[in-house]
Amino acid sequence: MKIYMGEDYKGMSRKAANIISAQIILKPDCVLGLATGSTPIGTYDQLVNWYEKGDLDFSKVVTINLDEYKGLSGDNDQSYRYFMNKHLFDRINIYKENTYVPNGLEADSKKACQEYNDIITKCGGIDMQLLGLGHNGHIGFNEPGGAFEKETHCVNLTKSTIEANKRFFEKEEDVPRQAYTMGIKSIMQAKKILVVVSGEDKADIVKEAFTGPVTPEVPASVLQLHNDVTLVGDRAALSKML
Ligand code: GLP
Repeated sequence: MKIYMGEDYKGMSRKAANIISAQIILKPDCVLGLATGSTPIGTYDQLVNWYEKGDLDFSKVVTINLDEYKGLSGDNDQSYRYFMNKHLFDRINIYKENTYVPNGLEADSKKACQEYNDIITKCGGIDMQLLGLGHNGHIGFNEPGGAFEKETHCVNLTKSTIEANKRFFEKEEDVPRQAYTMGIKSIMQAKKILVVVSGEDKADIVKEAFTGPVTPEVPASVLQLHNDVTLVGDRAALSKML
């Protein structure tokens, strides 16, 4: 695993954006696996900035997002589709039809998940998967549990995730209880993985995930088994790794 440190959130975001830019420049029609959460926002801002300067072209890029809340439409400002449009897709020259997010409005979980697995296969897999890290070690919405779930599945969000994500909603009751998420197998099949972490509150889980035992109780720990993982963090998040 390669580890790169930025002094602060901005520095970390710039390094992560550099790695994604290199991927796009080397393979203009690459498939990027993308993530939501507050950590990648700075990375997306930096990519938009380089796009505006004429350094990046997204016209052939395909994106596949990790997850979406079940029950939310893309117009809902708490949905991950809305997040991606706002922070990235509406600001660059990507074709919306080349951007995939699980269909939160599909009530039939089996169908929603099968459709998403088919999309991943049809796109030929993921060249580079961007990941944030939940406080409990979740990646996408693969929550801690007894086994690694392989493909896209519907999850019941844990109390700690609902708690962590309630800051984006008016009240805690508004946080959806379920989500569709790409599975561990799909994530692990990405050719390259880029994990972004920021802040002191992530320091313990970063250490546990990348140096502790590989266990479904800490879903991100499985990344230790991937042969091309890059971890980019700010000093605070990496403090226990140094
Ligand atoms: C959410 C997302 C994850 C994300 C995590 C951490 O639950 N489903 O993909 O990595 O939150 O978010 P943050 O970056 O805001 O800490």
